[in-house]
Amino acid sequence: MKIVIAGGTGFIGRHVSRLLIHEGHSVIVLSRHAPDGKNFDNIHVRHIQWDGCSQGTWAQECEGADVVINLSGAPIADSRWTEKRKQELIDSRVESNRTLLKAISSWKNKPHTFITASGIGIYGDRGGEVVDESSTPGEGFLPQLCQMWERSAMKAEAFGLRVIPLRIGMVLGSDGGALSKMTFPFRMFLGGPILPGTQFVSWIHHEDLSRLILFLITHASIRGPVNAVAPDPATMKDFCHALGNAMKRPSWFPVPEFVLKFALGELAAMLTTGQRTQPQKALGAGFPFTYSTAQSALHSIFSQTST
Ligand SMILES: NC(=O)c1ccc[n+]([C@@H]2O[C@H](COP(=O)([O-])OP(=O)(O)OC[C@H]3O[C@@H](n4cnc5c(N)ncnc54)[C@H](OP(=O)(O)O)[C@@H]3O)[C@@H](O)[C@H]2O)c1
Repeated sequence: MKIVIAGGTGFIGRHVSRLLIHEGHSVIVLSRHAPDGKNFDNIHVRHIQWDGCSQGTWAQECEGADVVINLSGAPIADSRWTEKRKQELIDSRVESNRTLLKAISSWKNKPHTFITASGIGIYGDRGGEVVDESSTPGEGFLPQLCQMWERSAMKAEAFGLRVIPLRIGMVLGSDGGALSKMTFPFRMFLGGPILPGTQFVSWIHHEDLSRLILFLITHASIRGPVNAVAPDPATMKDFCHALGNAMKRPSWFPVPEFVLKFALGELAAMLTTGQRTQPQKALGAGFPFTYSTAQSALHSIFSQTST
């Protein structure tokens, strides 16, 4: 299959591209930057430049794609959520979906599937409640952002495409995402849970996420939102304990909520609250998770890297 991945230069996109190429598919990555040879060493990805908000020659070059995946988006947790930043977070997601859909609408040969990233942040702060794809959205900025993100993608149904908003949990890998930031204090023997510690962390190993995306591409009966999380979410306390174990470091130093609120403002809520998310659709369709517990996922990651 010919598969286009917008924002495919990022942490998730690099892993997904590798798997798709390995499985014999042809991959085009859309990026706002010219190729620098660093993102895709030794794998045959075609890299095409776009700006994420206007049509161009990229659109003609992507025509004939069987699947379009949008992973674009300004990083959610990199800076304080000022009003300006919130708008950037929204625009980079909604606008890139809108731009892709505009191109697709003009293609004679349309893809059969459109997958957009979304997040389990859509469920908001749910305490210990178990949530799945049938749960209602929560309240606050992240749920609003995710709903706008998903709505902008669902418009592709009007062209007859199968649309899957992928509600991704915390993706675990050594080369990007939240884990690479969490490991620093652990490396310094200063690691510990973000308090209260009882909030749930719904996570997925990057290998399972890439395999789930391939599974969704090839299982035509699945449509609509899909939770991309492992079936065994952990509390923050247990997750950090497992992280310390995998890194052979203690999990001693809890991070108080007020410190995060002072440092990060509204963004702190993303870390001090959580969702106990179930991958109901993936399990129902028989997707086999390789890494079902945080311990197994973290051990696999840190057994391949030097702490
Ligand atoms: N990683 C996770 O744990 C996680 C969890 C839930 C949801 N997600 C979502 O999944 C998607 C992919 O995640 P990721 O971890 O791979 O993110 P990432 O490493 O930050 O990659 C995202 C890509 O989006 C593009 N991008 C960055 N800023 C942009 C902007 N202002 N406008 C348009 N495009 C922009 C970049 O591509 P170019 O610079 O090449 O254009 C970048 O490579 C994101 O939308 C993210 O919010 C990720």
